[in-house]
Amino acid sequence: MTASSRYSDVYAGWQQNPEAYWADAADLIDWDRKWDRVFDPSLGNFGQWFAGGMLNTCHNALDRHVNSGRADQIALIWDSAMEGRVVKFTYRALRDRVAKFAGALRALGVTKGDCVVIYMPMVPEAAIAMLACARLGAIHSVVFGGFASNEVAKRIEDATPKVIITASCGLEPGRVVPYLPLLNGAIEMSAHKPQACVVFQRPTHGVELVAGRDHDFLAIEATAAPADPVSVLATDPLYILYTSGSTGKPKGIVRDCGGHAVALMNSMEMIYGLKAGDVFWTASDVGWVVGHSYIVYAPLLAGCTSVMYEGKPVGTPDPGAFWRVCAEHKVKVLFTAPTAFRAIRQQDPDAAHLAKYDISALEALYLAGERCDPPTAIWAAEILKLPIVDHWWQTETGWPITAGFRGLGLFPSKPGSGGRPAPGYAVEVIDDEGHAVSVGETGNLVIRMPMPPGAAPTLWHNADGYHTAYMADFAGYYRTGDAGIIDADGDVSVMGRTDDIINVAGHRLSTGAMEEVLAAHPAVAECAVIGVADALKGQTPLGLVVLKAGITTPHADICRELVALVRERIGPVASFRDARIVLRLPKTRSGKILRATIRRIADGETVAVPPTIDDPLILDEIGAVLRG
Ligand code: COA
Ligand code: AMP
Repeated sequence: MTASSRYSDVYAGWQQNPEAYWADAADLIDWDRKWDRVFDPSLGNFGQWFAGGMLNTCHNALDRHVNSGRADQIALIWDSAMEGRVVKFTYRALRDRVAKFAGALRALGVTKGDCVVIYMPMVPEAAIAMLACARLGAIHSVVFGGFASNEVAKRIEDATPKVIITASCGLEPGRVVPYLPLLNGAIEMSAHKPQACVVFQRPTHGVELVAGRDHDFLAIEATAAPADPVSVLATDPLYILYTSGSTGKPKGIVRDCGGHAVALMNSMEMIYGLKAGDVFWTASDVGWVVGHSYIVYAPLLAGCTSVMYEGKPVGTPDPGAFWRVCAEHKVKVLFTAPTAFRAIRQQDPDAAHLAKYDISALEALYLAGERCDPPTAIWAAEILKLPIVDHWWQTETGWPITAGFRGLGLFPSKPGSGGRPAPGYAVEVIDDEGHAVSVGETGNLVIRMPMPPGAAPTLWHNADGYHTAYMADFAGYYRTGDAGIIDADGDVSVMGRTDDIINVAGHRLSTGAMEEVLAAHPAVAECAVIGVADALKGQTPLGLVVLKAGITTPHADICRELVALVRERIGPVASFRDARIVLRLPKTRSGKILRATIRRIADGETVAVPPTIDDPLILDEIGAVLRG
């Protein structure tokens, strides 16, 4: 820690009086009605923040800045490497479009408390749709474009949207992804049907709309009367974001309005060192929590300029894509997943493309979404000659649990570590019985309750599910599902998940969901999906299947069908490309498949035979299949 770091004082200040800390942070937000209590421990799963307070998040993200002299500042820069276009929106222009589109949604019957599903690519209209819902007090649920109909259907059924907003297509390198057939399939599969759909017609690729159901995004926006922000309770939901859990059923993470606005606003200067007017680029997707928090809400709440990029780090057109965007828009802080840097390094190890661009405005690189291997962090620091800050968070928390703190003078993070706990989080490491482990020892990363503002208060219509998933295992703590270490300096290293969730190119996926798909194939008796180490994506899924007796179809055909089935049912984002047939799966005597043991064999580790295994010889068989 540098001598000038204020981190320890600020963290200690929060520890001594959390309510005073968050009340101060809440002063940065416009409230229509002040809260009754900063924190009411008697409400919800673990208490609620700013209960009784009223506000509107869209007002805070847009109108507040228009009214206070930032109307002509750029709020959002859309840079599409796919269309070869850049479009800039001032705060006034963005507010006006959002107000009109909110008016259009209102005319379709959307009011406070209604749910709206947004299934869109990285176009500004996705952000406009999110903010328009927030303006009306409606609850948006954004579904990532790489999911297939079946996954979209699960989310439609659970969220029961009144309206679904989509686009004519997404653009992936070398491939147009038509959204309407995927959405139509999802609506057909779902027991719940929306009252209407709104389709953004991309200028390059229009589609025919479904008569009587679909409305053209720009046409209804053009004729709508603008809607004013609707005041909602701090504890009302702003959005639901579905994320992978251990089973095939995604978890509907709920974000409430007040705590979210306060926590995100507080994070911008403290963690990222950004102030109003600064340019922030989060290279992610609005379908993930990183995109919700740091492409859309936090930069706008803080009066920054947010860059929204449609493209990849490599191949659109080359590994200089990120440097072009940084140079062209004078990006001050870049935030992305380590996998993006691994991709750039793989294609341009000497960073020859970097030399073509002036990225002198860039002051720091933030990484999250998956564990950053130290060689990638060290390479990034060497080529950029800038502080690299790895920080750890989850869809559930909505903002970083641990980080380096540019605003407090505590950065960069040590390679391999995700930094120190943010004020608001008391992070501890405990063993499976709930006892503290020694400093530097690996264990379950847990957070002492209560969770801070901004963290999910519950799961959508499933408070019991929240309790079971996060609170039941370790009394008094939130279970993060991650394993890690806290070292003698207090730095936290996150080593991996303790459950069946895997992280593929920074995308959180459930092996349980993939197993459900494999098990549905008529030839499959049983199966296991594990995440194996991958030099580019961090992890990729691998499926091992045992066939039913009497199956004569060639194994290669079955494996091809299984790969196609996962792509069709979950989507290309699953990156499921490897299925192998085995005679049996290693299990405990009670019948539990030893997935962690299979994963270690696949990663080439030496594996001690687990004492609970029913037949140790199976490990040799599995090893032979994995090596083959
Ligand atoms: N809509 C439709 N399809 C999508 C999609 C979307 N929004 N996003 C990804 N896909 C598809 C890809 O086209 C690919 O399809 P393919 O199997 O036909 O090639 C598949 O899903 C897998 O995508 P991905 O794992 O992203 O691999 P990739 O090879 O396209 O790109 C990286 C690899 C590393 C370049 C890319 O993952 C990346 O830029 N990651 C950066 C970080 C990031 O976005 N993290 C999110 C959380 S912070
Ligand atoms: P998501 O909910 O998609 O944001 O994924 C959250 C999960 O990603 C965490 O529980 C971790 O397993 C992993 N993760 C996120 N950030 C980091 C990080 N900086 N280091 C290690 N793992 C991380």
